[in-house]
Amino acid sequence: MPPIASLECARCHHHLDASEPRTLCPLCAGSLYVRYDMDALRASAQKPGPLAPPSMWRYADVLPAAGPVTLGEGWTPMLASRRYPNLWIKEEGANPTGTFKARGASLAVTMARRYGLRKLAVASAGNAAGALAAYAAAAGIEAHILMPQDVPLANYLEAKAYGAHVTLVDGLISDCGRILAERKEAEGWFDVSTLKEPFRVEGKKTMGYELVEQLGWTYPDAVFYPTGGGVGLIGMWKAFEEMEQLGWVSGKRPKMIGIQSSGCSPMARAYREGAGAARMFEHAATFASGLRVPKPYGDWILLEIVRASGGLILDYPDAEILRSLLDWSEREGLLLSPEGAAATAAYDHLLANGFLSPEDRCVLFNTGAGLKYVDTLARAMGLHLPAKLPERMPVGGIITPQ
Ligand SMILES: Cc1ncc(COP(=O)(O)O)c(C=O)c1O
Ligand SMILES: [Zn+2]
Repeated sequence: MPPIASLECARCHHHLDASEPRTLCPLCAGSLYVRYDMDALRASAQKPGPLAPPSMWRYADVLPAAGPVTLGEGWTPMLASRRYPNLWIKEEGANPTGTFKARGASLAVTMARRYGLRKLAVASAGNAAGALAAYAAAAGIEAHILMPQDVPLANYLEAKAYGAHVTLVDGLISDCGRILAERKEAEGWFDVSTLKEPFRVEGKKTMGYELVEQLGWTYPDAVFYPTGGGVGLIGMWKAFEEMEQLGWVSGKRPKMIGIQSSGCSPMARAYREGAGAARMFEHAATFASGLRVPKPYGDWILLEIVRASGGLILDYPDAEILRSLLDWSEREGLLLSPEGAAATAAYDHLLANGFLSPEDRCVLFNTGAGLKYVDTLARAMGLHLPAKLPERMPVGGIITPQ
């Protein structure tokens, strides 16, 4: 595991040392990237061998030196579609807490423990909160969570079960972020919200390493990524840059295709308008709750990456996303998350309009397990059980806590 050479601001390229915990660039409030001495890494870093752990820590040679807080995240299946010969689903629902957020949380909590931080706080659309709660519990660190009161029930349940301090907010993730900023100093919280500290992106970059390794150290032609805050996409692009510098992959990088719901599509709108940043998306509402980010902090980074890759940012109505979700459940045996189904809807569309051909090798990220959305999907599908359950369920004489 290499030492961190510096933390570099994505906007003004100011370098900071990593000897103490950092959030944003002190000069311009830009997000920070972890940088290593790449000359030294070229000599020392090895591609994972047959004995490498079946987790994201197989890439320990390109992750910061620290004792991992791990629950077995990463090295998720790359599933070949049964219908489309050149399409793979990267099944991130197989992660602990059922989403790719586990990767970022694992590294952020690993580094928090290394720095001796005691209270971590996050503003989350839901899944990042569940992941932080799990890893904080594993590390014996406090997790303070602010999330919208209408998150999928699984997100509330997991955060409570892992013992996090949960504040449900009558609003969106942007309101959660504002409240967090107001309270963090008095509470002594360290903010690990999306792109407000360097290590969640660093953990998520392992998705880029994995997809290239799983395709035999080659790039696909396109990567489809459901985009909320954009961290997954930003992390993968960083991975591609590093792997090229290490000589682990070469050739044309994939087109990066970001997908949103039409109910909250600030990035797709900015992309269409040719803008350099996103405007606040008013009245955001979608059942793909992970995509309900009305003004992503890293909007400009995301736009730069997508354009540099020759990709697109698209959006689809929830009805079309649900149609694709059911199509994949019934015909491929995969219960995707609504976010993942936004990607499958986009694939159908881009094949139909000729942007992609059936020969193009494409990787679609199912960023979470469909079963994290039981209540959301039941509502969308008009399903309910006939039995009336008691308000509180006695469990072996113990009443479950609220
Ligand atoms: C299941 C799921 N997919 C995608 C996203 C969007 O993630 P990103 O911030 O990397 O764009 C989220 C974010 O909450 C999510 O929970
Ligand atoms: Zn800066």
